[in-house]
Amino acid sequence: MGDKIIDPQSEEMKFKPSESFAKNANISDPEIYKKAEEDLEGFWGELAEDINWFNKWDTVLEWKPPHSKWFTGGKLNASYNCLDANIEKNGDKPAIIWEGEMGDIRKYTYEELLEETSRFANVLKKIGVKKGDIVTIYMPMIPEIVIAMLACARIGAPHSVVFAAFSGEALCNRISDAKSNLVITCDGYYRRGKVVSQKHKVDEGLICCGQVKDVIVVQHANNDIVMSEGRDMWWHDLMEKTDTKCDSEVMDSEDMLFLMYTSGTTGKPKGIVHTTGGYMVGTHISTKWIFDLKEDDIYWCTADCGWITGHSYLVYGPLSNAATILMYEGAPDYPDKDRFWDIVEKHKVTILYTAPTAIRTFMKWGTEWPEKHDLSTLRLLGSVGEPINPGAWLWYHENIGHGKCPVVDTWWQTETGMIMISALPGITTTKPGSATRAFPGIDAVILDEKGNELEPGQDGLLAIRKPWPSMVRTVHGDEQRFIDTYWSKWDNKTYFAGDGAKMDYDGYFWIIGRVDDIIQVSGHRIGTAEVESILVGHSAVAEAGVVGKIDEIKGEAIWCYVTLKTGFEETEELKTELIKHVAKNIGPFARPKMLIFSDDLPKTRSGKIMRRVLKAIANGAETGDVTTLQDPDVVTTLKEKTAKAQSI
Ligand code: PRX
Repeated sequence: MGDKIIDPQSEEMKFKPSESFAKNANISDPEIYKKAEEDLEGFWGELAEDINWFNKWDTVLEWKPPHSKWFTGGKLNASYNCLDANIEKNGDKPAIIWEGEMGDIRKYTYEELLEETSRFANVLKKIGVKKGDIVTIYMPMIPEIVIAMLACARIGAPHSVVFAAFSGEALCNRISDAKSNLVITCDGYYRRGKVVSQKHKVDEGLICCGQVKDVIVVQHANNDIVMSEGRDMWWHDLMEKTDTKCDSEVMDSEDMLFLMYTSGTTGKPKGIVHTTGGYMVGTHISTKWIFDLKEDDIYWCTADCGWITGHSYLVYGPLSNAATILMYEGAPDYPDKDRFWDIVEKHKVTILYTAPTAIRTFMKWGTEWPEKHDLSTLRLLGSVGEPINPGAWLWYHENIGHGKCPVVDTWWQTETGMIMISALPGITTTKPGSATRAFPGIDAVILDEKGNELEPGQDGLLAIRKPWPSMVRTVHGDEQRFIDTYWSKWDNKTYFAGDGAKMDYDGYFWIIGRVDDIIQVSGHRIGTAEVESILVGHSAVAEAGVVGKIDEIKGEAIWCYVTLKTGFEETEELKTELIKHVAKNIGPFARPKMLIFSDDLPKTRSGKIMRRVLKAIANGAETGDVTTLQDPDVVTTLKEKTAKAQSI
């Protein structure tokens, strides 16, 4: 049982690791923080010994701010680390337990996963994929997505996984930016009992992506699809005739492992580049320490492989630790609201890593759903993607963890590659709502706009002062954007995370949320500019201002303020059409919650839409100084319209 303490000074609630958990934890000596601080390179160098290298590195770190190279001269392969390295001891151990939404179950041992991966790696080679070619993977949560990722890593072809719920157009943008000419997809997948035709979206997306020569299609939902002669090939046909032995390519530590597109403050998503050695060391160690992985754990990270969490904490981190991972294809409320708890009970899940939005949704559905199931196998709970409010933290701890599981709230980003702020469950006393302390070796601080370090209790900007192994290396094809976005805020050597946060007197971090034009909807990053550019792409729209509004369940929701072109009428039909237009062009997860028509938007004299003012209006907050607006009266009109829209 974790000991609950009420701090008499602050009346804050705290949870100390139980003695038994601390005794058996993978890391339980608090000295580790000091050790890392005193000798950063020595610390990471020692940890790097934990993974498999074909050739050991010469230098742990070359830091020429803002560029870092980790473990230079080292040679390794990520797929080898996740598969081959585990065969001797764990060949017969399940690597993946997969459950489909329809209830079908598939299991792969490490031996089988190695075989399938090697076979698919040979398929890729046969169709001409070479080291360095970027392969786009556009698949739902089926085992083949992991096989495809590991097969790419095996032959040294960086993967770019595009979240399956993105639209064909969003897929096309990412394929074009990556200059990828192979797409791996499937016919369809299940979502709340219905089949989503994935291949149909690929066909739509590829209309404007002439460079794609090959499409490999997994037959999964058996829905009717059109196979385009000379371009589309069935996965099973290709696999049938292919050998199961494929040596791993020897990769340099700094060779690209994958590209991951993420939303930024312009309409164009950024291709975040991660390399091999540092990423593998960072994800391997953080998984081992933060999730305290043990031999017989059944580990379930509910994130999709289409996001960074799926990459780091479903695939590379856990598999390189020889864990048994659980994967689930579908929705948490299909066929009923206890699907997650049914899965936990059935597969005896011991570690659960999910998002605050999911937790708040479960809270809303009520405790009767988890109560129907035996959740006693759970021993550790995790949270990621957005700030978790203390109420949701406590609910999770009490109703899912039954008071006995440590809760690790993990702060990190696509760009950081690994968890940067989190409790170490055998060491850290947790406080509901705080991600607690920076991981050993991570120099996180709170700075003001000018770069001065702030006192505890003061709101400021989250920054990281020292490099870490799994850090973003560049933005694909746009080095300037890499520098401008992350490094130029202060001194070109301090990483700007884009989050507001504060530290308390115990050195614990409390994350407030994004300070830039990014909205975090259910933990999914969506750029306001991305939504605005889709809206103004509609023939009826003259201008659009998009902001995030605090949402009880999803953390933030998308609110759009739209000015129509002359000749278009502000009707309910048009409003619905525009909302659908956004969902169709980005993906259903980006569906705006509210759309308000207005003849004018708050603009500076130079004509720039002031999202800050719109955000304050949407959230019912003080708008601050509006005297610099072209027309300050627009604020009053928008406040009235917002109040009216909310009352409906
Ligand atoms: O605002 C922070 C929020 O998610 C952002 C990163 O989004 P993304 O790159 O999509 O990665 C999400 C999964 C790692 C951050 O800038 N965020 C992530 N985790 C937390 C969080 N905010 C508060 N608490 C967290 N634990």
